[in-house]
Amino acid sequence: MTEDLDAVAKELDSAHVFHSWSAQAGLDLPVIAGGSGTVVWDHAGNRMLDFSSQLVNVNIGHQHPAVVAAIREQAERLATVGPATANLHRGRAAERILGKAPDGFAKVFFTNGGADAIENAIRMARLHTGRDTVLSTYRSYHGNTGAAIVATGDWRRMPNQFARGHVHFFGPFLYRTEFWATTPEEECERALHHLERVIQSEGPSTIAALLLESVPGTAGVLVPPPGYLAGVRALADKYGIVLILDEVMAGFGRTGRWFAFQGHDVLPDLITFAKGVNSGYVPVGGVIISEQISATFDERVFPGGLTYSGHPLAAASIVAAIGAMESEGIVENARRVGEEAIGPGLGELAARHPVIGEVRGEGVFWALDLVADRDTREPVGADVVARLKKELTSRGLLPFTAENRIHVVPPCVVTDGEVHEAMAIYDEALTSVEADLA
Ligand SMILES: Cc1ncc(COP(=O)(O)O)c(C=O)c1O
Repeated sequence: MTEDLDAVAKELDSAHVFHSWSAQAGLDLPVIAGGSGTVVWDHAGNRMLDFSSQLVNVNIGHQHPAVVAAIREQAERLATVGPATANLHRGRAAERILGKAPDGFAKVFFTNGGADAIENAIRMARLHTGRDTVLSTYRSYHGNTGAAIVATGDWRRMPNQFARGHVHFFGPFLYRTEFWATTPEEECERALHHLERVIQSEGPSTIAALLLESVPGTAGVLVPPPGYLAGVRALADKYGIVLILDEVMAGFGRTGRWFAFQGHDVLPDLITFAKGVNSGYVPVGGVIISEQISATFDERVFPGGLTYSGHPLAAASIVAAIGAMESEGIVENARRVGEEAIGPGLGELAARHPVIGEVRGEGVFWALDLVADRDTREPVGADVVARLKKELTSRGLLPFTAENRIHVVPPCVVTDGEVHEAMAIYDEALTSVEADLA
């Protein structure tokens, strides 16, 4: 009898693996044994459409042959190298990343992932300004390390508040406005007024950084209204504050642009990235540093570093991933599929399913805000989302859920056909859950 590898994977996982953000007992996680493009499968070959991109990171799709080959070749040439060395592929990776950033960015500091990119961006901003406080939004996620988790706006901050100097404010989110706004213009103007009052009240001369996700992702794909990020830039300039834009989730194609902020007429001082830069084939992240902040450390020692900063397997995979994304028009595909297939498809679902309160997003970065009542906009409970997750998974779609939402976040290489297949699955799952709610 052949061994049931899916059962073995589940048994080993539940016996020995400690999982993120979870009570450990009773976890029932899908087994992923292989993948290609937008599809993953278990050991038995059961196929699932990956509309989560794992953790919203597999922008280039699973097992892209050019990226896999680059990692293999680099492993055969030199599998590791210390950070205090010059390495051709690390240099090329930095050059490729800077090639996607606007003019005025000089260097890249590589980290192991997104959270330590945030840690180091905050460190740079504090040393550059000689100030301490970091302002970030309540609706945000910036990572799980010391300062990154305290910069985070959501519930994950509360049990982890060990870092100093973090203050939160509300960013714009018209559907659940904190400002009694009825239009994007009002939301933008009032959110900027609120931010300026927070800056003034905290003391502008104490504030080192304004840290924002260009498009807050985990918090619900909150595309900012036109003018908001430019307004934040103006406040940063007015008060001498460093603007850090966190592009860990939104960057490298997810919004249909290389960087999400590129649609918003804004120039940050520091850009953090991870996930989509190499689709997570090897863990990596980093900070893209403006000429001005980079110059601060020309003669002054930067007091930060990592054993694996600019790891050669990560560097090789970045060069290959950016190259393939360029030559195959993968970012353009994300934009087109978002406009022509995902946006209209989700709009049709919303027309049929009253549980969908709002559809929002762009590119391959969308959220369905699920409500118990469209008038009051009361979010559905965790039980409804859990049911939906089960219905979707059992029909062959791997979903991404957060609070009362489903995030529709496939790889940037998703095809129109795969989107149509997914829409039919969302439709059936919503119908089945709504039948129980009625
Ligand atoms: C916007 C943002 N910043 C930072 C992080 C943290 O990245 P990592 O999990 O690689 O540490 C995440 C992770 O989801 C994120 O979405």
